[in-house]
Amino acid sequence: MSATSWDVHRLPRAEHRNFLVTGANAGIGYFVAEQLASTGATVLLGSRNTAKAEAAMGTIRSRVPGARLRHVPLDLGDRASIEASITTLGVTALDAIVCNAGVLLEQPERQVTGEGNELMFATNHLGHFALVGLLTPLLEAAEAGRVVTTGSLVAGSAKFDPADPQSTRDYQSKRAYARSKLAQMLFGFELDRRLRAAGSTTLSTVTHPGGALDSLTPARPPVHEPTTGQRLRGLPAALMLHGKQAAAQAAVRATLDPAVRGGQLWAPRWFGLRGNPRQLPVRGTFADHALADRLWTLSAELTGIDVFG
Ligand SMILES: NC(=O)c1ccc[n+]([C@@H]2O[C@H](COP(=O)([O-])OP(=O)(O)OC[C@H]3O[C@@H](n4cnc5c(N)ncnc54)[C@H](OP(=O)(O)O)[C@@H]3O)[C@@H](O)[C@H]2O)c1
Repeated sequence: MSATSWDVHRLPRAEHRNFLVTGANAGIGYFVAEQLASTGATVLLGSRNTAKAEAAMGTIRSRVPGARLRHVPLDLGDRASIEASITTLGVTALDAIVCNAGVLLEQPERQVTGEGNELMFATNHLGHFALVGLLTPLLEAAEAGRVVTTGSLVAGSAKFDPADPQSTRDYQSKRAYARSKLAQMLFGFELDRRLRAAGSTTLSTVTHPGGALDSLTPARPPVHEPTTGQRLRGLPAALMLHGKQAAAQAAVRATLDPAVRGGQLWAPRWFGLRGNPRQLPVRGTFADHALADRLWTLSAELTGIDVFG
């Protein structure tokens, strides 16, 4: 399939390939896992909650008979859990990791992980930075590994301050979230530059899902069971936004489409908010190589992991 003829409803077969999806027990990550499982691939669901992961796997199996699925216990806010997850993957090569898990805190107080890092920066960015670093040998063992990083439209207007990366001053939860998503996107682009410089066969791409609402998302009991009232209240938003099944399609395309190249950005077609995935230009802060380099150094210091340093 060419870059222009991608059909989100007719995915290429991917038997004998292994994909890890973080945060696959709910939301967009669930639908990424469901869609990837429909290709015949083995999908590893990286999730910190065993009961939710089991429920997600049961629901996928009810829709994709014979789906090859496995739960990989993974808490991205906990360094020990990230290290342990590598030993439970049970694969000798990894064709892609979809870095989807994410947290957006609502409370006004700044939260930290057990390691003392700001919780959203730690979970969304540092956790994936460490995971990808530790998984590099498995990605390199695949024919053409891929790292697919999930950013956000809000990252485009975020300001990342290397002097205060963890929002210790004047903390605001939405701003800290946007910074964490910008950090992820800068990482995804910088990773591809470092992979190219190292002559690697692995690619790194960045996607964002647009605006995805639970109320516009098709039911997947018991994983997602919207009430009629919720669905009706969500309807007016369908003009601008979409559901999480559709939001998953950018990451699925970035994982599977042979026409996708490293360093690219893929997002929904209409205003970056809804619709089928298309490639967007990488510009503004996203193209700031110096900032990405500083963030990389900082992330390597904070995690103690630096594969392409
Ligand atoms: N929805 C949108 O409109 C939107 C827009 C832009 C970007 N995004 C990004 O898209 C991704 C998915 O969003 P969503 O709307 O699907 O969110 P969601 O429904 O809240 O799902 C988030 C997933 O991340 C997992 N997660 C959170 N913290 C984790 C941790 N410490 N370790 C492992 N997994 C963890 C959650 O697991 P638990 O069930 O255990 O909490 C859940 O599976 C996120 O990266 C988000 O930033 C979403």
